[in-house]
Amino acid sequence: MTDTLYRLVYMSRNDITDEIELQIGGILEISRENNRRAEITGALMFNAGCFAQVLEGPHHAIQATFERIQCDERHSNVTVLLFEPLDARVFSNWAMAYVGTQAAAEQRFGHLGHDSGFEFDTLDGNEIFNVLRANLHDAEPA
Ligand SMILES: Cc1cc2nc3c(=O)[nH]c(=O)nc-3n(C[C@H](O)[C@H](O)[C@H](O)COP(=O)(O)O)c2cc1C
Repeated sequence: MTDTLYRLVYMSRNDITDEIELQIGGILEISRENNRRAEITGALMFNAGCFAQVLEGPHHAIQATFERIQCDERHSNVTVLLFEPLDARVFSNWAMAYVGTQAAAEQRFGHLGHDSGFEFDTLDGNEIFNVLRANLHDAEPA
């Protein structure tokens, strides 16, 4: 019997104070290595002081990965927006796609929040998920 797959969408506030692009490069490198091993796929976005991330995979793998992510001091206010079983992966080709640079993200995701970042109160996981999916075509290859 194959494991049921789940999708988790969360947002967090970014606490990185310097060299954000370098730090994100490091996060992506380790994430892609770990996620490939754990059969996790997904996408990460950074915009104006906030991260949004989608993780897809078996329940136990998502749980273990998300526990590590929550303890990471490079972000705070980690807020789960969606956690549900899924029929098929949407990010199947991506161990962790990175959707856009900050400038591009601000332009594309401007409608989702204000200049200071996303509005945690008004966002829902499906909206974030759809934005990440819609922008996959020009995400960096995993
Ligand atoms: C915004 C953000 C997203 C992250 N996403 C992942 C991820 O998808 N997979 C992962 O293994 N680590 C991710 N990390 C890194 C973890 O918090 C942690 O540093 C890493 O998993 C430790 O890996 P190691 O035990 O192999 O050193 C993320 C960190 C941040 C700040």
